[in-house]
Amino acid sequence: MKLFDVYPLNDITITKGNGSYVWDDKGQEYLDFYGGHAVISIGHTHPHYVHRITEQLNKIGFYSNSIKIPLQVELADKLGKISGKEDYQLFLCNSGAEANENAMKLASFVTGRKKIVAFSKSFHGRTSLAVAATDNEQIVAPVNRTDNITFLPFNDVDSLSIYFSNHGDEVAAVITEGIQGVGGINLASEEFLQAIRALCTQHRAIYIADGVQCGYGRSGKFFSHDYAGVNADIYSMAKGMGNGFPIGGILIAPHIEAKYSMLGTTFGGNHLACAAALAVLEVIENEALLSHAHHMGDYIMQELRNIPELENVRGRGLMIGFDVPAQYKDLRKNLLFKQHIFTGEAKPNVIRLLPALNIQKEDADKLINAIKTELANNNS
Ligand SMILES: Cc1ncc(COP(=O)(O)O)c(C=O)c1O
Repeated sequence: MKLFDVYPLNDITITKGNGSYVWDDKGQEYLDFYGGHAVISIGHTHPHYVHRITEQLNKIGFYSNSIKIPLQVELADKLGKISGKEDYQLFLCNSGAEANENAMKLASFVTGRKKIVAFSKSFHGRTSLAVAATDNEQIVAPVNRTDNITFLPFNDVDSLSIYFSNHGDEVAAVITEGIQGVGGINLASEEFLQAIRALCTQHRAIYIADGVQCGYGRSGKFFSHDYAGVNADIYSMAKGMGNGFPIGGILIAPHIEAKYSMLGTTFGGNHLACAAALAVLEVIENEALLSHAHHMGDYIMQELRNIPELENVRGRGLMIGFDVPAQYKDLRKNLLFKQHIFTGEAKPNVIRLLPALNIQKEDADKLINAIKTELANNNS
């Protein structure tokens, strides 16, 4: 049987990882500034993570949500403390798309309304509603198209206010990333997030903060949306949550009441996934990774801004992007194949940096020097 060929692949086979480094089948070492697409939050094969999962697997890996799973309660408790949302409620699932799907569904249940507002350049996942709320026609199948989603310009408070004045009583939810990832590292302004909060409150709509990529400490705060100083009604999470173990979830504000059968999943919140997620939070706490991400991100951005060829360096914490002028279009490819450093991209010309939250200064310096070397090679 062949694999269904949906991914353009780099000709590299990774067989081993440790911290911010991975190795291929030929023994070549690579520095990982991509974090496997913002997923590796505490570094590859972190010893505490490996120990916690192995220990759990030797006890029990899975049983269904029809029995008590104290690990879920422990995870909810720890998540509440570290995120500062102690009075929120936790629903666990398996991926980012599923988290957003459940968030929008829940918003529709509690408001009894159908309309969702999403924004230009957004990415919320590939399940039915999540993909409909994603601003990319190419990945929306005919069956997913719906008039229930309205796209408005990102960071445009006026458009949002006008939309609410005309349709406020139909809006179930507004969904936005705090920092757009796939869209190219675009920061939601504090004013914009505050306006979403105010308009949702005024019109009894639900503010959904998509923290799948920008959340879980990546920005230097637990949720990048927190920089605006207002709370969302629902936060979605996934990527960094399990450091590669598939787990997602939503944090749900106390005013939203649960009813039996409203949401559900077979695999979500299983023993092994909870052990992985707890290990991640324990490392985030023990290694003070929120403040580390904040400081290391500032350092990297400052170093990048000193490189004159790079344009529009932006980001927060360890979610960083910059534009690469057309004449240096092979920079990312050369970083990978000549300097052996993984980075991310966003079309058409953005390099995205999404390393593990415990990346070290010497690794940051390695990246900066490699960029300088490749730009100099290109100029010569
Ligand atoms: C902001 C955001 N939301 C949702 C998703 C979907 O997550 P998943 O691929 O785990 O379904 C992604 C994935 O890149 C994302 O970046």
